Amino acid sequence: MQGEPAPLIVTRHVNRTFRLAGETVHAVRDISLEIRQGEFVAIVGRSGSGKTTFLNLMAGLDRPTSGQAFFEGRDLSDMGEAEMTRLRRWRLGFVFQSFALLPLLSAYENVELPLRIAGVGARERAERATEVLDMVGLRKRAKHRPFELSGGEQQRIAIARAVVMRPAVILADEPTGELDSANAAAIFGLFREMVDEEGMSVVATTHDQTLLDLADSVYDLNDGAIELRQDRRSEVDHNRFKRPAGRPTSETP
Ligand SMILES: Nc1ncnc2c1ncn2[C@@H]1O[C@H](COP(=O)(O)OP(=O)(O)OP(=O)(O)O)[C@@H](O)[C@H]1O
Ligand SMILES: [Mg+2]
Repeated sequence: MQGEPAPLIVTRHVNRTFRLAGETVHAVRDISLEIRQGEFVAIVGRSGSGKTTFLNLMAGLDRPTSGQAFFEGRDLSDMGEAEMTRLRRWRLGFVFQSFALLPLLSAYENVELPLRIAGVGARERAERATEVLDMVGLRKRAKHRPFELSGGEQQRIAIARAVVMRPAVILADEPTGELDSANAAAIFGLFREMVDEEGMSVVATTHDQTLLDLADSVYDLNDGAIELRQDRRSEVDHNRFKRPAGRPTSETP
């Protein structure tokens, strides 16, 4: 195939309003955006600007009030439960702002869980879980349960869990919010590496201005409306990837 691949995520005039106690909150305003393979996109906005709401819409975790969101050409609103499950299992990794780790499982077990659910064999599970724990620098905390980890460590485990399936896209909601500047830079550096070496796409929200140089493009989100601040995406070579990001090799369909 020549030229640019089809976008992984497209939003078209997406709006999301919430009605609560007679008040209407316009959390996302008319956002049209494309995320292609091998792009690292950062979205910057202050608290309440709509970052989480917008990521949820792109992940199909929430439905737009109007407008459409597509994943690999499919309208997320048309997807049934089985298709959505497949998408979440294989194609999309989500790092929740609140981590959403399972409290009774160790760090290792939390990271290994998606592989288990996907039916990956024991040896490859162990290899892959150990590899990503190494990547986030937490192999020595493998046996700890979430409450025995610092906030920043929990956040890094949540990132490891999102990348362990090598999804096509990672949507990360303030993935460095709990991290000191060195660890925050390391996580953004890790995303950069996954984009460059694996052809993954990353969309990360942040309010840390020092991390933005690592992204291909930066959007500002203000009161639900998005604006492109910086765009280096024309420099992205979409044909440089060795293999498409996606399913692990041992997967049986
Ligand atoms: N379920 C909901 N019901 C009503 N209002 C909501 C709901 N979820 C979000 N909002 C409102 O929508 C706006 C955007 O919220 P959102 O969580 O997307 O912001 P954010 O940019 O992620 O903020 P933060 O940086 O604090 O995480 C806020 O004003 C919030 O109060
Ligand atoms: Mg948020």
